[in-house]
Amino acid sequence: MKVSVSAPGKLMLFGEHAVVYGYPSVVTAVDKRLYVEAEQTDKEVEEVITPQVKESRFVSESISFFREKFAVKEHVKVRTRGDFSHNVGLGSSSAATVAVLAALGVLFNKFFKKRTLFDMSYQVNIKIQGVGSGFDVAAATFGGTLYFIRQGEVLEPLSVGALPLVIGYSGIKADTPSYVRKVAENFKQKKNETIDIFKKIRDLVELAKQSLLVKDYEMVGKLMTRNHVLLQQLGVSTVKLDSMIDAAFNTGAFGAKLSGAGGGDCMIALVPSEKRKNVEKAIEKAGGQVIKVKNNAEGVKIEERII
Ligand code: PMV
Repeated sequence: MKVSVSAPGKLMLFGEHAVVYGYPSVVTAVDKRLYVEAEQTDKEVEEVITPQVKESRFVSESISFFREKFAVKEHVKVRTRGDFSHNVGLGSSSAATVAVLAALGVLFNKFFKKRTLFDMSYQVNIKIQGVGSGFDVAAATFGGTLYFIRQGEVLEPLSVGALPLVIGYSGIKADTPSYVRKVAENFKQKKNETIDIFKKIRDLVELAKQSLLVKDYEMVGKLMTRNHVLLQQLGVSTVKLDSMIDAAFNTGAFGAKLSGAGGGDCMIALVPSEKRKNVEKAIEKAGGQVIKVKNNAEGVKIEERII
């Protein structure tokens, strides 16, 4: 039997960094997906084929984890393919972990709930990365938009639908762990100040959750911009991200912020539909690349089972 499974990438809407310290966040799954094909092989070793090389370690660790946990003797052949045409920080590694574990579950008739899939995938990711809240694993597993507290302490689906987002890639690939370490250093050196910023982020995340649910986009936009200012204070933004965000704001966006660890990757802007074209042009003029992405995508799913 051959199994094909896919899992979505993610965007952090609110609360990055603070989420690592136990504060809430809002994350959404996006329609860029990672596809995994898995089958048994007669060979005595795993075969891992990942043209988007970046996630090869996530694939092989997921296989080892699964074989050990379920005492599986057989070896497998796993191939990945992605919609992630740019290496833009939309979470292909976590999507790969979730999709591989789900595919092996189907292949070896091990049935587990999504919550278990989340917990297993998070363990694999922590083993590789050492740090992380697990928000990306949550988005890949459950899909939609989630109010999320680290390690899945809270995993609350929010019925917010597709948001009028514009996504701009800064052209710089950010190194998430080094920015997480940078904030940890701040936390050590300037503890009270940093906790103060985290608390402000927490308060705006709570407001953002409510505003998203009633589709008050003007308010959601304001809160995005406020979140960005707090991220600047944490020291994780860059000149390039700031100028893309200013450009979006100055051409009519409700608000804008960086998304993720900072240092590069993407910014997001919430825009009234009549301003979308102007905002996109302005982001490009500021040196960004607009990426067509829809949020609120479906979580992990079985695409095909070939017997
Ligand atoms: O850079 P990304 O998109 O992987 O986002 C990192 C978000 C952090 O809050 C900084 C880390 C985490 O694991 O939550």
